[in-house]
Amino acid sequence: MRKPIIAGNWKMFKTVSEAVAFVSDVKGKAEIDGVESVICAPFTNLPALVEAVKGTSIKIGAQNLHWEDSGAYTGEISGAMLKDLGVTHVIIGHSERRQYFAETDETVNKKVHAALKHGLVPIVCVGEKLEEREAGETKNVCKVQTEAAFAGLSAEQAAGVVIAYEPIWAIGTGKSSTAEDANEVIAYIRSVVAGLYGQSTADAVRIQYGGSVKPNNVREYLQQSDIDGALVGGASLDPASYIQLVEGAR
Ligand code: G3P
Repeated sequence: MRKPIIAGNWKMFKTVSEAVAFVSDVKGKAEIDGVESVICAPFTNLPALVEAVKGTSIKIGAQNLHWEDSGAYTGEISGAMLKDLGVTHVIIGHSERRQYFAETDETVNKKVHAALKHGLVPIVCVGEKLEEREAGETKNVCKVQTEAAFAGLSAEQAAGVVIAYEPIWAIGTGKSSTAEDANEVIAYIRSVVAGLYGQSTADAVRIQYGGSVKPNNVREYLQQSDIDGALVGGASLDPASYIQLVEGAR
């Protein structure tokens, strides 16, 4: 019922030529019927990537946006600019942005509104720190972040949001959450959305798991009842590995 979505988050990796070479390696392979395949790349790569994926089913996403359409915001990129390029998705509120670039629940919410206004699919990241997990706060942290991100959205808008549950302690560490634990938290996040909008909206929202997802464990996550895809960092950088990740969602 929910279309699985595999998104590569390249973070601050790859030059334009490396990005274009990646697409020529994965073309026709990281494209599986019934699976959405999205590459979220640095801003500098976006125009070349949009051009390179023409005629394929691969989509291109950004990793951030500003909530205003234009203005005196040195160094920022707006949703209007991304849409104009042909970008379709945008990651919002990744924990690295919350940790290093002062992203807050409030700015995440403004960015979600901006993305939807421009017809971009927001991939909203939520997830707990290690100390929050150890204190038994995982579900509460995810609830607070999810409710804040969705503030002011209609049910119709909410249904088009993708959530990525990324426990921070599992990012880039090789320590992944077990598929069962991730599924339990993700089912809980879905219940939070149901509390806001009702069950049918919650059933439409896609929720990914992220944190040390690899070709050898992706299938296990995707087989769970509530996990609709993966947001993948390190393992999305290598073409062969990215192809296997998309195949794992089949
Ligand atoms: O957004 C994806 C991410 O933070 C997970 O990174 O390298 O653990 O797959 P990684």
